[in-house]
Amino acid sequence: MSKKIFVTKATMPDMDEYFKEVEDLWDTHWITNMGPKHNRLEEMLSEYLDIEKENIALFVNGHQALECIIEAFELGTEKNNKGELKNEVITTPFTFVSTTNAIVRKGLKPIFCDIKESDYTIDENKIESLITDKTCAIIPVHVYGNVCNVEAIEKIAEKYDLKVIYDAAHAFGVKKEGVSYASYGDASIYSFHATKVFNTIEGGAVVFKDREMKQTLNNWKNFGITDPEHVEYIGGNAKMNEFAAAMGICNLRHIDDNIKKRKIIYDKYIERLSDTEGLLLNNVEGKESNYAYFPIRIDKTNVSRDELFEELEKNKIYSRKYFYPLTSQYDCYKDEFDSSQTPIARNIAEQILTLPIYPDLALEDVDRICDIICKKLK
Ligand SMILES: Cc1ncc(COP(=O)(O)O)c(C=O)c1O
Repeated sequence: MSKKIFVTKATMPDMDEYFKEVEDLWDTHWITNMGPKHNRLEEMLSEYLDIEKENIALFVNGHQALECIIEAFELGTEKNNKGELKNEVITTPFTFVSTTNAIVRKGLKPIFCDIKESDYTIDENKIESLITDKTCAIIPVHVYGNVCNVEAIEKIAEKYDLKVIYDAAHAFGVKKEGVSYASYGDASIYSFHATKVFNTIEGGAVVFKDREMKQTLNNWKNFGITDPEHVEYIGGNAKMNEFAAAMGICNLRHIDDNIKKRKIIYDKYIERLSDTEGLLLNNVEGKESNYAYFPIRIDKTNVSRDELFEELEKNKIYSRKYFYPLTSQYDCYKDEFDSSQTPIARNIAEQILTLPIYPDLALEDVDRICDIICKKLK
């Protein structure tokens, strides 16, 4: 009987390494509230991302990081005279529901822009036509480790005086000629969820340009408390605890190795699947990537994406229809948004499947997965 293979597997350090890292917590009993490990991880991440420590704040997860930075920019505070939400944010529906939910939960209106066939990120040529006098920001999403056209987005944002917040949940560690993408836009949020290339079990971070924001973000994630007798903002609770930070400290020591291992698996998939008729691959050759996901598109008349998904499932291989449906198609949004406005995203969502990829996935398993796919699509 073949074993189950899931689409991802959380990366964990050796047990001994983690235990050594958390041992002193039994002496200090300082297990949350921005303790030494939280601060150490911030330092390590700023080195890794090539930014200053004053430009990063850790969070309990990526979603809270996004909600918090939207709030810190006060994007949702203005209303028009009919009491309707005034501010519009240009974003894409080809993302995890977190992006759209964060925008709506902060009182803003998502305006969905279509994506590019080539890399699934926002089509920068379609942004300008969606800008109105209500537009306050662009929240583009780096997808699967493919980064948006940051230079073009920057030009548009400058021209119309818009904030840019990247949802970089998928793009941890992706660099351009050695320089981290974290330095683009007014801010980028990262997710350190267990399923991501780098994890702190649950966790996230915001990287921001204006270092004055660090204190605001730190206060916001701690109920808005500015000192024991003062609460200046109506903040929430979104602090990363010390056990999570310790997991991050350990995992970050091995990140480069883990990305290299992912690349070997990625290359194997490319080698095995490139010539398969009816399959469209996300070939990152010549681009920098973190090999976070291995998406394929099934563009064939006689076999659907769902049929291939089921065939893999029959063989205990659990791929994921990611992203499907579009966020604009979910029950809570479908009456308000028309997915035919983003036809490329809608078509890709019908075809997409992400295949298992994680650092210790065996190459024989990749072969087995590819054999099943090739046989089904023959
Ligand atoms: C594109 C995207 N945005 C936001 C998030 C939210 O991150 P988190 O799960 O850490 O809250 C995720 C992942 O879960 C994601 O994939």
